[in-house]
Amino acid sequence: MSFRERIEASARARESRVVLALDFSDPYDVRLDRAARVLNLTMGEIAAVKINHHLLLPYGLRGLGEIIGACRSEGLPLIADLKVNDIEATNLNIVESLFSFGFDAVIANPFVGREEGLGRMVETVHSKGGGVLFLVYMSHRGTDEGYSLRLKDGEPIYRVFAARARDWGADGVVVSAKATEKIVETRSIVGKGCLIFTPGVGTQGGDASSSFAAGADFLLVGRSVTESADPLKSVRELNAL
Ligand code: XMP
Repeated sequence: MSFRERIEASARARESRVVLALDFSDPYDVRLDRAARVLNLTMGEIAAVKINHHLLLPYGLRGLGEIIGACRSEGLPLIADLKVNDIEATNLNIVESLFSFGFDAVIANPFVGREEGLGRMVETVHSKGGGVLFLVYMSHRGTDEGYSLRLKDGEPIYRVFAARARDWGADGVVVSAKATEKIVETRSIVGKGCLIFTPGVGTQGGDASSSFAAGADFLLVGRSVTESADPLKSVRELNAL
């Protein structure tokens, strides 16, 4: 099964379109336990898990063995949010490590280009049955300083990134929930060939229902769940939308 088939099957099985970002800022001696606890509480009712520097830097891939193993035995796809943005040799090395340790997908930044950038990395990930998600439009306040820069012909770069996702074989794109018009625009560019993942709901002010109405397939949610007094209840509220 492809990454897309796996995450869609997982979403159907658990009736959820929530990708839980396991982001914690607790002291290092308790952070991993807290992540494992929130994962165990919610894993039956989420579609996938996203891990980024919050856990990967302090613990590394070996140190995350139990969390990765729990996701794999539950059939929960695991996305590495490293926003890969380097030369080909380094990008290939990153995905070799991620996929050897059990990840299913990686987020990359199409700014770096295809030739000696992301091209062979996408092919390599696909040869392993994995997925690649491209950043298209981010949700922080400074996003327009980068993602709305215009090329000489007036085209904003986020539209170029969406077209790159379509043309370079990305399996999904990441588009801010705080810019639902960009979700609509992105869908018109990528068609049905890419899944749309939207971050920025809850803590950052984005609205999950409006994001789904605009065409998002999955929510990328961190703090509204990880910092909730009742993480499972918070997931269920999102699943009810
Ligand atoms: P929160 O706590 O805001 O976390 O729900 C969002 C998660 O998604 C990651 N991520 C992004 N977040 N805009 C975001 O707001 C983006 O474009 C984006 N891309 C990925 C973020 O690192 C956190 O894990």
